[in-house]
Amino acid sequence: MFFQKKEEAPVIDLENLPKHIAIIMDGNGRWATKRGLPRKAGHKAGAEALERVIEGARELGLQHMTVYAFSTENWKRSEDEVAAIMDLLRQYLKNYFRKFLGDNVRMDVIGDISRLDGDIQEQILEIEEESKHKDGLFVHIALNYGGRDEIRRAVEEMAKKVSEGTLQPSDISEDVISAHLDTKGVPDPELVIRTSGEERISNFLLWQIAYAEFCFTDTLWPDFGKEDLVLAIEGYQNRDRRFGGR
Ligand code: IPE
Ligand code: IPE
Ligand code: MG
Repeated sequence: MFFQKKEEAPVIDLENLPKHIAIIMDGNGRWATKRGLPRKAGHKAGAEALERVIEGARELGLQHMTVYAFSTENWKRSEDEVAAIMDLLRQYLKNYFRKFLGDNVRMDVIGDISRLDGDIQEQILEIEEESKHKDGLFVHIALNYGGRDEIRRAVEEMAKKVSEGTLQPSDISEDVISAHLDTKGVPDPELVIRTSGEERISNFLLWQIAYAEFCFTDTLWPDFGKEDLVLAIEGYQNRDRRFGGR
């Protein structure tokens, strides 16, 4: 579904929120270019939008939110742009993400963090550890994340267990596969939102979105806010989800 702002305020049922919303935060570059700014200014504005959306999700009482921050394909961008994104990430790990621990927010990272700089990896592990007893909103940040890479890593781990004799091939059920993904223990996303008008998945949560509902909006990520989130939830709540039944 494509959603657009309307005259009337959206109406949502707070008792029936999707358990997990995943967001492809796209359009930072175009937001900056439209303003004659360098792309990195778009990423900074995008990070601020994420702060607002996390705050909004917390106020709504959402349980899980996964945000696509950097894909396994994003390394193809210029060295300058990648460095600017990594610097922003550093700043957020040091400041903002620490602050939100005080708000009972839990955080973890999905993706292969081994390719990130050592100091960033350390900060991530620290925040994951420090926030693991929080029971409010759980924010999952996808960093150097690719759905295919995640599945490949899970297959490698299962193959290793099979060769060691700790896993039988016939025991590899869908649940066992899910338990080897970075999202183990997290319910599958029920709603996926992508901003900036693109209607594709770009290698995001390929296994987990089997039955997700999709919302696409033209709004560029730096312009996205709590009202847009509420609008997407309203759209989601009006869907008829069937899961293959009738
Ligand atoms: C999303 O915005 C952020 C990342 C992929 C890191 P883009 O940088 O992809 O913005 P556009 O798509 O070029 O406008
Ligand atoms: C997807 O956006 C990745 C993130 C939002 C981090 P991209 O801008 O990288 O995706 P494509 O290139 O449009 O498919
Ligand atoms: Mg993009």
